[in-house]
Amino acid sequence: MDHMRTIKTHDHFTHNQSPQGQFPHVRSRRLRQSRWMREMVQENWLSPRDLIWPVYVRENNMDPIIPSLPGVLRHTLAELPALAEKACALGISALVLFPCVPSEKKSPDGDEAFNTDNLICRAFRALSGFRTDIGLIADVALDPYTTHGHDGVLRHDLLMGAQVDNDRTIALLQKQAVILAQAGVPIIAPSDMMDGRVGSIRKGLDMAGFQDVSIMTYGAKYASNFYAPFREAVGSTLVGIDKLTYQLPCGNKDEALRDVALDIAEGADALIVKPGLPYLDILSALKEQFKMPTFAWHVSGEYAMLRAAAEKGWIDFEPCLMESLLCFKRAGATGIFTYGAPIAAQILKNRS
Ligand code: PBG
Repeated sequence: MDHMRTIKTHDHFTHNQSPQGQFPHVRSRRLRQSRWMREMVQENWLSPRDLIWPVYVRENNMDPIIPSLPGVLRHTLAELPALAEKACALGISALVLFPCVPSEKKSPDGDEAFNTDNLICRAFRALSGFRTDIGLIADVALDPYTTHGHDGVLRHDLLMGAQVDNDRTIALLQKQAVILAQAGVPIIAPSDMMDGRVGSIRKGLDMAGFQDVSIMTYGAKYASNFYAPFREAVGSTLVGIDKLTYQLPCGNKDEALRDVALDIAEGADALIVKPGLPYLDILSALKEQFKMPTFAWHVSGEYAMLRAAAEKGWIDFEPCLMESLLCFKRAGATGIFTYGAPIAAQILKNRS
């Protein structure tokens, strides 16, 4: 066998061809004996700075409880400043806000998204300028606002039936992004997967004077079954067609690389891969290929699985959460969107 062969080196010592030699000369466990040793050689670390906290925002008369996301609440505008204070105290990098739009405000074309006084704009106005040391990120897509739950507006195609109308949608997303920038959002995150949306949003922001507002694109967003608790949280029910007509199919990787290359060419400043753990190969491939800030999204279904198994007493929630988050770092993540952000940050703070 090749790795068993020995070779002579210039200083006449005999080495195994394998770079690290062989047992009993070599013992991997020598550096695993105590915590300080293990930490001394630890290759990747998790810090609160790696964490982005997704926050659901609601009107005062809505239910705060999300049954499929234990420990995650829908928050009122009045609660947001205290939440931002907590995030700052814990050292969390940023909050990403999602609106829970009441069903009477939803429409086929998602018009409420363009109301400059809608829930999410009021939320961002309440927070921007309140603390400058916490990041704010806005998701751009129409699904919280549409009655059919799709990320864009529909058109009826004679051959294909109902489809999300790409070009009309990207014009609307441009409008949505500008309205969010006007509400004080420094980072826009398009999560819709339309073609050409990064370019359209960049152009809209630039024309409105927001050259410095960044675009963190959901460049590799897969059509996933792990989004179910999110859809419960924002009250979004899919009608008719599947999101597979615009989001990526889980079996494809080259397609994600091509899509992300387009987003970068259109002006994306940072990338997001979504969902998280089942897609670590996509995360490391993107990081490797494009050398961009690349974020992972540990999505609602992934968080819910940890919670549900823990409730049954089958796993321990906190260590499984911490393990999941560190594995994102190992795979190359610049940071992680996770509902576990406040818990993980508190654990990290207690450790230090
Ligand atoms: C909307 C959006 C979704 C998520 C974030 N933004 C759902 C979807 O695309 O259907 C999912 C987040 C999560 O599951 O935690 N475009």
